[in-house]
Amino acid sequence: MERLDKIVAVATGESRKIARGMILRGRITVDGVRIVDIGFKADAGSSVIALDGNNITYKKYIYVMINKPEGVLSASEDKSRETVVDLVKRHFNRDGLFPVGRLDKNTTGLLIVTDDGDFGHKVISPKSYIEKEYIVGLDKPISNEDILKLEAGVTLVDGTVLRPAQVNVLENRQNISVVITEGKYHEIKRMLGTVGIGVETLKRVRIGKLMLDPSLLTGECREMSDEELSLVVK
Ligand code: URA
Repeated sequence: MERLDKIVAVATGESRKIARGMILRGRITVDGVRIVDIGFKADAGSSVIALDGNNITYKKYIYVMINKPEGVLSASEDKSRETVVDLVKRHFNRDGLFPVGRLDKNTTGLLIVTDDGDFGHKVISPKSYIEKEYIVGLDKPISNEDILKLEAGVTLVDGTVLRPAQVNVLENRQNISVVITEGKYHEIKRMLGTVGIGVETLKRVRIGKLMLDPSLLTGECREMSDEELSLVVK
C-alpha cells in the first residue's frame, strides 16, 4: 500500500503538491470511488486509479536511457555541479533515482538512470559479466602488440588485475572500441595507461546488448522499453 498522492505524482509526472491538489479537488478515483483524503493509501498494483475519469498507470520502477554530455557528474546529487539525475528529473520527476554505474565527468554516452536498486546492482556487478563497449579516441596510435597485451588482461601499477578486454581498431589506430566486463575505477584510462597511451575522448555506446539510441542527442533522455531492459540483463 502506498500513499495516493505519491502514486498520482509518479504516474502523472507531477509534483506531490500538484498531486495533492488533484486529490483535494476530487479529480481522483480509486476503483470508481472519489477520494479526497490526501492521506489515503492504495495498492497501485490491484486498484484502478483514474484522473478525471481516465485510468493512470503507476510503474513501480522507471528506467531511463540518457546520452550523458561532457561535464555532467554521474551522481544523484551534488551541491554545486549538475548531475545526470538533475537532467533526468526535468522529464521524470521521481524520488530515489541514481545512475547505474559511473562514467567520468568527461566521458559521454550511454548511461541508465533508475530507482530500481536490484537492477542497478546486477548491471554493475562484475559477477554479471555484462559487457560495456566504449569508443575511445587515443593520443597516439595503438600497435598490435599493445592490443594483444590488453586482450590478455593487464595489471595496473597498484596491483589491480584487469580482465581481458576486447579491442578493435576503427577507422584508424587512434580510434578504437574497447569492451570490458567489470567497470573498475577509470578502467579504460588506466588500462591504456599501462601501454603508455592517453585517452582523449571516451564514449560508452553499449551495455549488454543495448546500444545507445543514435537518435538521442547529447543530454537527452527517454524511458526505456521492457524489450530494451531485457537487452541489458536477462
Ligand atoms: N573507463 C574510464 O576510464 N572512464 C569511464 O568513464 C568509463 C570507463
